[in-house]
Amino acid sequence: MKKTVLLCCIALVVVIVYSCKKNNNKSSLNVVALNLPASPDIYYSVNFGDPHYADSMNKVATLGRVLFYDGHLSLNNAISCGSCHKQSIGFCDNATFSTGYEGHLTKRNSPGINTLTFAGSLFWDGRENNVFNLSLRPITNHVEMGIDDPATLPDKLAALPYYGQLFKSAYGDNTITVEKITVAIGAFINSIASVKTRLDAYNQGDKSAISAQEIYGMNLFNTKYNCGTCHNGGGGYYGGGSFKDIGLDESYTDLGRGAITGNASDNGTFRIPNLRNVAITAPYMHDGRYKTLGDVLDHYSHGIANSQNLDPFLKDAKGNPLNMNISDDEKKAIIAFLNTLTDYTMITDPKFSNPFNLK
Ligand code: HEC
Ligand code: HEC
Repeated sequence: MKKTVLLCCIALVVVIVYSCKKNNNKSSLNVVALNLPASPDIYYSVNFGDPHYADSMNKVATLGRVLFYDGHLSLNNAISCGSCHKQSIGFCDNATFSTGYEGHLTKRNSPGINTLTFAGSLFWDGRENNVFNLSLRPITNHVEMGIDDPATLPDKLAALPYYGQLFKSAYGDNTITVEKITVAIGAFINSIASVKTRLDAYNQGDKSAISAQEIYGMNLFNTKYNCGTCHNGGGGYYGGGSFKDIGLDESYTDLGRGAITGNASDNGTFRIPNLRNVAITAPYMHDGRYKTLGDVLDHYSHGIANSQNLDPFLKDAKGNPLNMNISDDEKKAIIAFLNTLTDYTMITDPKFSNPFNLK
């Protein structure tokens, strides 16, 4: 009798465990179908050495990754963050201006995204400095994603089969809120870091990682032509928080930083861009006016205009726009050097890739 009861109990436990497993498999199906890496191991810059914190941020960033690539964050379900920030080209767009909601064009060129924790400020004019505030801005911006009121998003996302489980895994329960969405997207874009370029390998001691021509280009960049004064201020070529006028035009059509601060001395200044991945993030400048790095070098070589706030570094001793007259060989070397800043690990890393691209 006792044996039968025991057997029955075991059978019951087996049935319960089996059916739970089955249910779990069922509800996890959609997440599996999203092709998330088994162990996301997303790089998160501030884990305070606490593996549990790192693990929970990984889950939040994993959710952020799905949100980043999900067209449902736009009014017509057609535009995701990933439409204008494409991984294969350093999370920028290969268009002068990007096409957002219902074909509207953005007013500026989409910058690549990497290592935002070093950016100091965000956007070409620095109008934002917090990734967590930023992430809802494009969603609600009409040109980009067309959603007027982010408060409508939680219900919209809750109707999709895959979010309940992703929110639960990230935050412990499956309620969706605007704040949770924002934090998750912020955690994901914060995790996109560039630390594995050939230049990094070289700086870490692998002297064969870059060629003699590339080293020559690096010296021209940092010493002869002083490009590094602006572009390598904090080291690592991540750009930075200061704003400069590089004499693109004599008079300004876009006031840049000046439109944010209201100071005339900021007119025509733009944030110094991050040069990591620059070889693959054409077109260039805030308005995407240059198609190639050669065009950019032609600008610095002999095209600097006498604009009102032209940076002193780009003026000669008499205060006129500098004519650098960079030779063809030097241009080639500088471009070769800029190619050492491409991070092939980052742009092919599955943990940053589009989870909706089913293989
Ligand atoms: C229609 C194209 C488009 C979409 C969609 C879009 N962006 Fe952008 N993004 C841009 C453009 C253009 C800029 C530059 C705007 C500026 O500086 O004025 C930008 C700038 C950024 C920046 C600043 C990068 C830096 O270095 O300062 C981040 C981060 C960013 N976007 C993240 C996102 C996220 C997250 C989403 C989705 C919620 C998103 N973007 C959706 C076009 C887009
Ligand atoms: C006075 C500071 C300053 C100096 C010096 C300077 N730059 Fe720049 N650079 C900038 C700023 C600011 C921008 C963005 C300008 C804009 O879009 O309006 C920029 C843009 C660029 C871009 C385009 C990046 C992109 O993603 O669109 C490249 C490439 C570049 N610079 C390379 C160079 C080289 C090469 C030199 C030296 C010959 C140089 N820079 C000297 C400040 C500077």
